[in-house]
Amino acid sequence: MKALTDLIAKRPWMAWLVFFVTLIIVFVLGLIAASITERRAEAVFVNTPTKEISNFEPRNEVWGENYPREFQSYYETADTTFASKYNGGAMIDMLEVDPRLVVLWAGYGFAKDYNQGRGHYFAVTDLVNSLRTGAPTNDKDGPMPSTCWTCKSPDVPRMMAEEGVGEFYKGKWSRLGAEVVNPIGCADCHDPKTMNLRITRPALVEAFERMGKDIKKASHQEMRSLVCAQCHVEYYFNKKTVEGANYLTFPWDNGMSVEAMEEYYDNMNFKDWTHALSKAPMLKAQHPGYEVYLTGVHADRGVSCADCHMPYKSEGGQKFTDHKIQSPLNNVANSCQVCHREETKKLVQNVYERQDQIIENRDKLEELIVRAHVEAKKAWDLGATEEQMKDILMGIRHAQWRWDYAAASHGGSFHSPVETSRVISTGITKAQDTRILLARLLADLGFNKEVPYPDIATKAKAQKFIGLDVDKMKADKESFKKNLLPKWIDEADAREEGYDKKEQI
Ligand code: HEC
Ligand code: HEC
Ligand code: HEC
Ligand code: HEC
Repeated sequence: MKALTDLIAKRPWMAWLVFFVTLIIVFVLGLIAASITERRAEAVFVNTPTKEISNFEPRNEVWGENYPREFQSYYETADTTFASKYNGGAMIDMLEVDPRLVVLWAGYGFAKDYNQGRGHYFAVTDLVNSLRTGAPTNDKDGPMPSTCWTCKSPDVPRMMAEEGVGEFYKGKWSRLGAEVVNPIGCADCHDPKTMNLRITRPALVEAFERMGKDIKKASHQEMRSLVCAQCHVEYYFNKKTVEGANYLTFPWDNGMSVEAMEEYYDNMNFKDWTHALSKAPMLKAQHPGYEVYLTGVHADRGVSCADCHMPYKSEGGQKFTDHKIQSPLNNVANSCQVCHREETKKLVQNVYERQDQIIENRDKLEELIVRAHVEAKKAWDLGATEEQMKDILMGIRHAQWRWDYAAASHGGSFHSPVETSRVISTGITKAQDTRILLARLLADLGFNKEVPYPDIATKAKAQKFIGLDVDKMKADKESFKKNLLPKWIDEADAREEGYDKKEQI
């Protein structure tokens, strides 16, 4: 300070200079502060709830009255126009694209019907239309348990609160047909009072508890992925947790890697189904998206699901979270270029390269497993014993589990290309080892030729090969949609009208 006083004593005009510079700085700071408060006021204005929302309000439109921007962008998940090289919002019949899947899933619902995921807006519609959910005629009928609703709708936390979690998982899928009608939405991820992110699915909280972790301690950035991990994960139905219930459970007790989950299932002798051709005790990987994402470089650097799939968006000076959850390749500017300086073309190419490279080996693995199933069937036909088949069937189970883990972790080829490749290569090794055992066994049984690869060039041929009567299933579905479905919808409409009356009182 002394230096400045000396300087001013020598040159008095310096004092005026300091005075004016300070004045300008204060003025500019004032302007900035005013602009900030103005924006804040705007933000408060936009996000001031005009309507009280109850804790389990399932109707997205009702939340939309308070948060129109988020609601409108959420509603755009109904857009099916975008298609990238392998993904996007369009309905793609995966069994038509890749008929090998029919053979891999022979004896299981997925061989009937399997489409690539669309936007969240379609979650309930697509489940109702799927041949996998069959054609129930009453509330105690059909192939699927009530648990299948768990990742489809904000009516799920509402029903869990009403009837208890264990009860929710009891009975048939058709039991809750009139209850679960609103597609995935606001109440699944938000607390209506604070709009903070919240976890509504007990399976995730319970899996964390069993791993000795408290999900309530998750950071804000972790929550931006954990809300997705309620559904985009591997799971199974445990029949022992609650008597009579298909209790939704994540198999993470030994870890989240493909090997750790396999060990978990093997130790409890769990199987999803018995393969129709090979009789192997199979596992169906559901969609271990979160688990595979965690092994990638983006997760390692703290990038969340929402960073890429729900980027910020600006409209009328208002910044908000884009709720059109979709392929980020439809919005590279907001999804990737916030962090990467490369051009759109380059970034898209990066994604496609990883996908192409992985899909090449994935297809090879599929072919090997199809062959193993067919060869195992041949061995049974030639009189192989359970004892002779034991290791072979476990080999098939483990190879296909690896294939499915990689294939069903949607987006995994980009989220974590190295891990996804590793899983596929260990699958290839398992499949090859198993086919060596099969070749020896077939030779012992007196068969020394190649078992012919089936003609499964189209979905129809593949379904015929495994003996599925798809026409009948389709006809039954139509009759379900004509008879039972309209009743569900009427009942749901009447109930929701009741909510509004209750609110008015
Ligand atoms: C309540 C369960 C649930 C939650 C929570 C959830 N999803 Fe989904 N998601 C689904 C289901 C079910 C589908 C498939 C819908 C269909 O095909 O009808 C899906 C589809 C998708 C798709 C495919 C969309 C398309 O256009 O191809 C993406 C991407 C996606 N989810 C990302 C996310 C992200 C990111 C989060 C977290 C911010 C998230 N999801 C949270 C259940 C959920
Ligand atoms: C799959 C989970 C998910 C669903 C479903 C969802 N949101 Fe969000 N929402 C988020 C995430 C993630 C954020 C970012 C939160 C953060 O970083 O604090 C967010 C942020 C918000 C915010 C804070 C302001 C902003 O835009 O960042 C509002 C308001 C909001 N959502 C409203 C809604 C409404 C209304 C719906 C239903 C139409 C909805 N959300 C459905 C995950 C979801
Ligand atoms: C929030 C920031 C962020 C966003 C958003 C983001 N990235 Fe990244 N990305 C990173 C970081 C950090 C790395 C690690 C590179 C490093 O640390 O040098 C990375 C690495 C990569 C790599 C090289 C790693 C690999 O897989 O081989 C590619 C390719 C990539 N990102 C593409 C994309 C694309 C495409 C998108 C949009 C869909 C995207 N990124 C979105 C931050 C981001
Ligand atoms: C760094 C950016 C980034 C992060 C982080 C990220 N994703 Fe993705 N995701 C992508 C890209 C890129 C694709 C490939 C899209 C394509 O092929 O069109 C993708 C694909 C997907 C798909 C398949 C999309 C479709 O159209 O069928 C799903 C589902 C998905 N991601 C969910 C998630 C979930 C859940 C998380 C967090 C656990 C997550 N993603 C984290 C960038 C990201």
